[in-house]
Amino acid sequence: MKLSVLAIFIALWVSVLAAAWGNDYQGGDNDDDHYHCHHHRGDDGNDHQDCNHQTGHATPVFGRTLSGTPYPPSPRANEPDDDEPGSVIPNPGGPIVPSSPPVNFRFMGAGNNGTNPPIPRAKRQSCGGSGIVFDTSTAFDSDTDIGVNGSPAEPSGAKSGNVIFSTSNWIAAISTDGGATFTVIDPTVYAGPANPATDGGFCCDQVVQYLPSIDRFVWLLQYTNTNNSNSALNVNRLRLITFHPSDVDTKGINSWIYMDILSSNGWFDYGELGVGTTQLYLSTTLYGPTRGLVVFRIPIEALNVVGSLTYRQTNVNDGTVAQGSRLSQNPDDTVFWAGHSDPGTTVRVFKWTESSTSYSWNDLTIDSWPSNTSNFVSTCPGNRTTNWLFVNSANNIIGSTRRSNNEVWFGWNANSGGGFPNPHAQVVQVNVADWPSISKIKQWQIWNPNFAFAFPYFYTSSECDDVGLAVVFGGGSFNPSSALVVLS
Ligand SMILES: *[C@@H]1O[C@H](CO)[C@@H](O)[C@H](O)[C@H]1NC(C)=O
Ligand SMILES: *[C@@H]1O[C@H](CO)[C@@H](O)[C@H](O)[C@H]1NC(C)=O
Ligand SMILES: *[C@@H]1O[C@H](CO)[C@@H](O)[C@H](O)[C@H]1NC(C)=O
Ligand SMILES: *[C@@H]1O[C@H](CO)[C@@H](O)[C@H](O)[C@H]1NC(C)=O
Repeated sequence: MKLSVLAIFIALWVSVLAAAWGNDYQGGDNDDDHYHCHHHRGDDGNDHQDCNHQTGHATPVFGRTLSGTPYPPSPRANEPDDDEPGSVIPNPGGPIVPSSPPVNFRFMGAGNNGTNPPIPRAKRQSCGGSGIVFDTSTAFDSDTDIGVNGSPAEPSGAKSGNVIFSTSNWIAAISTDGGATFTVIDPTVYAGPANPATDGGFCCDQVVQYLPSIDRFVWLLQYTNTNNSNSALNVNRLRLITFHPSDVDTKGINSWIYMDILSSNGWFDYGELGVGTTQLYLSTTLYGPTRGLVVFRIPIEALNVVGSLTYRQTNVNDGTVAQGSRLSQNPDDTVFWAGHSDPGTTVRVFKWTESSTSYSWNDLTIDSWPSNTSNFVSTCPGNRTTNWLFVNSANNIIGSTRRSNNEVWFGWNANSGGGFPNPHAQVVQVNVADWPSISKIKQWQIWNPNFAFAFPYFYTSSECDDVGLAVVFGGGSFNPSSALVVLS
């Protein structure tokens, strides 16, 4: 999510970095290729950067603006078994029934204003595994990010061996010793200076994943939109950077490849990545005359080399019901995402398999839930007129994970009302085994009578199918903070 205070931040770095970068920038209007950059420290002790622009590739697809129908061919062409929206499957809905008992938690500290104790060593998952365990406060528990200007922390992280790459909304940090120590790195160094003609430079909303098949991290960065006075001309870009763990040292990333996706007829916001078997999925909401979620599919192999590639994308008109949603984690060979085709009663589940150039969807009636976005309100303990929840995120399907071949979870921000005294998270587990028939396995809530929950976010353990949940809480006597849960 983008906050208006970002403008201050952007102005600062442009002036600082313009000098350091000289005329090396080679992005701008010419977005037809991958670039390879090498970052080194010269004899003068300063950082230098060389980018080799590869030219002469066959007609590239990426970097083209997104006008017209999806390119290449429309993903909505019929295919057996995976083509048209199916019929709505009757699935009796009912009134909301708050799950019992309400969810509570043990306060773990951190995430307030720096006065809380460090987070104690997290308990390991019952099934073992190779998760990241932070035993002290990280770079993100400081005034450099959260706590300043109301910045959302929005942490993201990935790990390969002892290299851990972690981002939040505006900063990033790298560890080469398995998380014992982190070095904060400046994303703008890797995003490059802004080209005022086409974008406003690095903004925010970073996400990172690891691509095991090519042994590279993949890092998504969002750029600032250019023209708030005209929604069609108000464009920006997304940048995808990939690099090997071996490209990293304690000071940062020394070598990387990047590609850009340019928006048109609006700007992209709140991106997400999902790592499939052979494809990387990227979802983002286009804010323009038409607003909706767009999902991209990019061959992972192509992110390992400098050269052209072909990506596919969904039609924004299909995504109008899914504004602000994020695609499912752990997609394997099929990615899912969802929207509210009738907020409060019906979700629309989308499916796209790697073997198919079409995607499809179906509606599912669920238990009704309070969808009036005016009631996405929870106030800070120190000032009962300050709502700490980001109102644009009301109802958004933030969390999604494919738990097995047959089951996908969706979680979203619900409001107070209908028996829930506070905003809370609604979760529905959907059986997708008989697509296009879908059915509700279970619907439940994360709620508490005394404070609010929001921003449920899921990831499934590859080792044992446990689902990790990150969720934010606040209000009542609590400043906003977050909690981690393992659901098995
Ligand atoms: C930080 O939080 C503590 C506990 O809520 C409060 O007493 C203190 O005034 C806060 N400090 C600032 C700078 O907001
Ligand atoms: C921004 O939009 C305004 C209003 O439509 C237009 O006059 C102006 O040329 C646009 N600026 C850019 C840089 O596109
Ligand atoms: C939504 O909630 C607001 C504030 O409680 C209320 O004024 C409004 O009438 C509600 N809208 C609907 C459609 O119920
Ligand atoms: C409380 O919050 C409101 C809205 O954010 C703000 O206008 C007001 O100045 C705050 N009051 C105090 C005492 O900080």
